[in-house]
Amino acid sequence: MNILFLSSEVAPFSKSGGLADVAGALPGALARLGHAVKVVTPLYRTVRDERIRGTGLGLTLEFPFGAERVSLHEAHVAPGLDVLFLKHGAFDRDGLYGDGRGEFGDNHRRFALLPVGALSAAQAVGFVPDVVHLNDWQTALAALALRTGYEGTQLGRARSVLTLHNLAYQGNFPASAVGELGLPRELFTPEGGLEFHGQLSFMKAGLVFADALTTVSPTYAREIQTPEGGNGLDGVLRARAQALTGIVNGVDVEAWSPETDAHLPASYSAADLSGKAACKAAALAEFGLAPAPGAPLFVFVTRLAEQKGMDLLLPALEGLLQHHDVRVLGLGTGEYWMEERLVHLAARFPRKMGMRVGYAEALAHRLEAAGDFFLMPSRFEPCGLNQLYSQAYGTVPVVRAVGGLADTVVDLSEEGQGTGIVFREYSGGALWHALERALGLFHSPGLDAVRRRGMAQDFSWERSARAYEWVYRGA
Ligand code: ADP
Ligand code: GLC
Repeated sequence: MNILFLSSEVAPFSKSGGLADVAGALPGALARLGHAVKVVTPLYRTVRDERIRGTGLGLTLEFPFGAERVSLHEAHVAPGLDVLFLKHGAFDRDGLYGDGRGEFGDNHRRFALLPVGALSAAQAVGFVPDVVHLNDWQTALAALALRTGYEGTQLGRARSVLTLHNLAYQGNFPASAVGELGLPRELFTPEGGLEFHGQLSFMKAGLVFADALTTVSPTYAREIQTPEGGNGLDGVLRARAQALTGIVNGVDVEAWSPETDAHLPASYSAADLSGKAACKAAALAEFGLAPAPGAPLFVFVTRLAEQKGMDLLLPALEGLLQHHDVRVLGLGTGEYWMEERLVHLAARFPRKMGMRVGYAEALAHRLEAAGDFFLMPSRFEPCGLNQLYSQAYGTVPVVRAVGGLADTVVDLSEEGQGTGIVFREYSGGALWHALERALGLFHSPGLDAVRRRGMAQDFSWERSARAYEWVYRGA
């Protein structure tokens, strides 16, 4: 199949979270199955990569707000896999979706430019897709465009598949954006697909107009069809339940394996874990802490957003640091109050905790390798990648049984099968009990067996890619 894959972030070129990891790995796995894949994404100011070249091709996209010139750049990444970059002034800024002052005010234009530009780019390079694979609200308008703008063309025969990575982000804009973008006004009703409580919703348009829907775990696929998990769109999702499939993400083993990871001070494997201790000592030293082989090291690497459960984690960390001989290392950026409280906590326990505010790819790898336990007490989690990486790195995940965390971590109580510590209720008490179980495991002879079971899991992208192939054929 010819697959046109649209994403607003693609590792290693641009990244704010797991979407980039998926868009950086799934297309390659599809190409290895024999498909021809073209990924289309913005050329943000921050994108730096020597593989990227200008193509000399340009597009003019007609919108009511003006005729926008986009030039095409390209990187050949692997056999059967190219990434096309859309270069336009609206993407030439610091930040992908916003900056220190908040979200950009013209995101509705920027993420109309991306999907419309992507379809035009495919035409410009003579690529005729069988499937147009969309990811989240930033590309969702392509589903509508394919239905309304391309009848009778080769593109009009393509099927669209929309993957939902996070329903909490919907791309909702004031109603005035309908006219500004030139969208069909008759569809701006709740039933028509574009209106969500008086606003224009890019995500809803995708949910209604895409030929098939997927999300990044089977449990999240069920959760989003309930009022508790649906972010107001559960009714739309229930109506499309037949079209919705849950497929868990994989691990890009080229980027994330402790045997070959160039970011680590020492490599290791399930057969020989000794390098892991060196990674732990080095990470502690990086944060100015003394070696502590006898104390469990808890790590986290995360966007600091409500989703990630910081309101539970903060008091739990404080309790751990106060009452137990533990170490904590954290990396994250996001909401200011969370950054501030984490930094403050680390300052109160300078010999036990280190906190780095910011986004740091290499450090994320080093922390995954260094930890004894990886903390992920998410309020909700569509899939989650860090718990997969931590298992691959022999770092035992402590997770809440929600979304993809429930689907990818097996609790220790499953005799001989456990790969992590799983708690259910979203409460401080339940997290505390999980942390006590972690302390018990650390001081028990069973720890290495749990690590090794995690490292032996098959989270390969090939398996997920085959599931997507199935969805494409169905569409
Ligand atoms: P989400 O996409 O919701 O943020 P995931 O677990 O799916 O959660 O993916 C997060 C990805 O982003 C992982 O690759 C993780 O290592 C990375 N990441 C998150 N925060 C940071 C950070 N501050 N620095 C470096 N990498 C980060
Ligand atoms: C989103 C979700 C995360 C998921 C990622 C990639 O950012 O929050 O759970 O792993 O997308 O699908």
